[in-house]
Amino acid sequence: MPTWLITGSNRGLGLEFVTQLSQDAGNTIIATSRSLSPSNLAGLKALDGNAATLHILECDTSSPPSITALGDQVTALIGDTKIDYLLNNAGVNVASQQTGLTVTPEAILENMQTNVIGPAMIVQVLEKHLGRGGVVMNMTSGLGSMSDAKGAETTKCTAYSISKAGVNMLTLHQANALAERGVVVVCVDPGWVKTALGGEGAVMEKEDSIRGMLGVLRGLKAEDSGKFFAYDGKEKAW
Ligand SMILES: NC(=O)c1ccc[n+]([C@@H]2O[C@H](COP(=O)([O-])OP(=O)(O)OC[C@H]3O[C@@H](n4cnc5c(N)ncnc54)[C@H](OP(=O)(O)O)[C@@H]3O)[C@@H](O)[C@H]2O)c1
Repeated sequence: MPTWLITGSNRGLGLEFVTQLSQDAGNTIIATSRSLSPSNLAGLKALDGNAATLHILECDTSSPPSITALGDQVTALIGDTKIDYLLNNAGVNVASQQTGLTVTPEAILENMQTNVIGPAMIVQVLEKHLGRGGVVMNMTSGLGSMSDAKGAETTKCTAYSISKAGVNMLTLHQANALAERGVVVVCVDPGWVKTALGGEGAVMEKEDSIRGMLGVLRGLKAEDSGKFFAYDGKEKAW
């Protein structure tokens, strides 16, 4: 009877996680969304009648007060119950046209706020709900890989790439800090997927990316903590 918490789950890859997980009556899903406005929640509400138990909570992952409030709401909702899978999915790619020569402080800060500070604070407020065998997944990107960036032809998405390299390092620090408690922390690259963020040229369907990622997450072992995976379970170079 696993409990899942997924941030940024009103659309894109987050919604696809909830869609697939909602087919299984054994799952309890806490789906968070930046806004609980009806127009924002149409996709999630459509899954409400599916087999799984679905709770929808508000969380703006760029806002520390909103993250703190989420921690309180989760505790009120599940009490002492552990979260088996905490998926830090919410993310932005702000100012994607900027390069290493044009990137602005504002773009770096905005990407860092959601893509790095958000996952750091989410784990802190939900720490008490993480226990032995629990999994934390930070959604990263191939653009966060130093190895992939070395010698790459394209230099855009600079601020986003910096933030995803940052969340990779955060993953290692969280893995070290939670090792004694037996919590596995990984970062996963979903591939280049057809979502708003994926944009033009994306090659993968959401269904395939998330099916692969769920397989990776369910198969994790203690020794995998601190690793960087692709959606198909292959380990990626940092
Ligand atoms: N698609 C790809 O090819 C690709 C590749 C590599 C990595 N990723 C990563 O995968 C994750 C999901 O991306 P996606 O492709 O599904 O993008 P998407 O379709 O643009 O969806 C992004 C999701 O994140 C949410 N979000 C953004 N900022 C938020 C905030 N401050 N608070 C709460 N929610 C917030 C959005 O909510 P709103 O509707 O409220 O904006 C939305 O639900 C991201 O971390 C992204 O970096 C995607």
